[in-house]
Amino acid sequence: MDILLLGSGGREHALARAMVAGTDHALYCAPGNPGTMALGKNIDLNPNDPDAVATWAKENDIDLVVIGPEAPLVLGVADAVRAQGIPVFGPNKDAAMLEGSKTFSKEIMEAAGVATARCITCEDTTQAEEALAQFEPPYVVKNDGLAAGKGVVVTDDLAAAQAHAAACVEIPGGAVVIEDFMSGPEVSLFCVTDGKTVVPLQPAQDFKRALDNDMGPNTGGMGAYSPLPWLPENFVDEVVARVAQPVIDEMARRGTPFSGLLYCGLILTSRGIRVIEFNARFGDPETQVVLPRLKTPLADLLYAAATGTLEDFEELEWRDDASVGVVLSAQNYPATPVLGDRIDGITDAETVEDVHVYFAGARENENGELETSGGRVLLVNALGADLDQARERAYTAISKIAFREGHYRTDIAARANDIKIPTE
Ligand code: GLY
Repeated sequence: MDILLLGSGGREHALARAMVAGTDHALYCAPGNPGTMALGKNIDLNPNDPDAVATWAKENDIDLVVIGPEAPLVLGVADAVRAQGIPVFGPNKDAAMLEGSKTFSKEIMEAAGVATARCITCEDTTQAEEALAQFEPPYVVKNDGLAAGKGVVVTDDLAAAQAHAAACVEIPGGAVVIEDFMSGPEVSLFCVTDGKTVVPLQPAQDFKRALDNDMGPNTGGMGAYSPLPWLPENFVDEVVARVAQPVIDEMARRGTPFSGLLYCGLILTSRGIRVIEFNARFGDPETQVVLPRLKTPLADLLYAAATGTLEDFEELEWRDDASVGVVLSAQNYPATPVLGDRIDGITDAETVEDVHVYFAGARENENGELETSGGRVLLVNALGADLDQARERAYTAISKIAFREGHYRTDIAARANDIKIPTE
C-alpha cells in the first residue's frame, strides 16, 4: 500500500513505525519529523488544508490516508479525502465534534446512556459564575473547544476557576463547560471503528502533570505505560459495551457515523467507570506505548476501518511484553519551552535492549544535527518482561540522551502495582 500520514509528533512516529516496519508499504508523511523521515518520505504539504491533501493523495495514487492530529479532522480533511474515493482513517468533520466540542460529546453521551460527570455549559461570564456557585470545589472548568491540552483547569480556588471560565468564553464563539469533579485512577482506551464495529486496543495510563507525584502544571502527557495490572479482567469488554459501542451507534443513528479512532478517556470512580472525555484520534503519548505491543499489522487494521470491513477483521494479536514510555521535554515546558538546543545520545539510548526513541519536538538543523523544536521533544519507549524491567530499560536509555535542561518525570509506571480502584 501507499500510505499518506498527516502529522509531525511522537504519535505519528509511532503510527509510522507500526504501519511500515516489516512491510513493503510506502509511507509519505506531511509534514513528518526526523523519525518518520527514516521510515518513508516527508513531504511539503499542509496537513490542515483539505483540498491540498485530497488533491495530493489523488495525484499520487495513495491507497490509505491516516490522520494523526485533531486539527485536520475538525477542519474537514477526512471529508475531502473521502470525497475523492480514497480510504481515510479518521472521522469526518461532523463526527470529529466528539472531540471538537465538549458540549456536543456530553449530548451524545446523554443520548447514548453513557455515564459521565454532571455538567453545565456557559457562554458568558455571568452564566459561568452562576454555574460555579452550583458546584463544590475542586472546580473542573473545561474549554468547550480544542485547546491543545491546555483547556482544562481543576482547582480549589474559585477565583482561578472564574478566571479560566472567563478566558474560555472570551474566545470568539467560545464556551466553557463546568462539571463535577471525579476521583479515581484514569485510563485511556483506544477503539478502532468503521462506524459500526468497534475493535478495542489495549488500555494505557497517561501521566498528565509535568512533575513527579502528579505535581506541577498540566501537559500534553509526560509518559505512559501498558498493560495496567490493576484493571478488572472484564474492563475492556465493559467499556466497549457501555461506552464505545453505544456512542458509535448513536453517531450512526444521527447520520454522522464516526469512523476512525475513538479515544475513550475514562476514570474508575467508586461508582463505576465514567467518561472524562472523548478524542477523535490516537492519544499522545499513549500511542507510543500501546502500538509497540501490537503484533497485528497496523496498516491492515486501519485500512479495514477505512473501508468499512472491520467486522471481518482477524482478532488482534498482542505481545506479552509490558511497555513504558517516558517523555523528555524542553526546558520550561509547558509554559514557554526553550527551543533550538542540540540533542545528543539517541543512538546510544537505542543500544539498550528493546528501546526505541520516538521523535516529537525535534528537527534537523542546517548542519544535519538534531535540535529541539517543541515542548515535548521525544519519548523513550522500552518493552520488558514486566513493567519493572520496561521501566528500568526506559530510564537507563533516557539517561543517555542530553540537551540543555531536558526534563523528564522519574515516576512513570512506578506505582502501577499499587493502584486501587476506590469503593463506596
Ligand atoms: N494523552 C492525552 C491526549 O492525547 O490527549
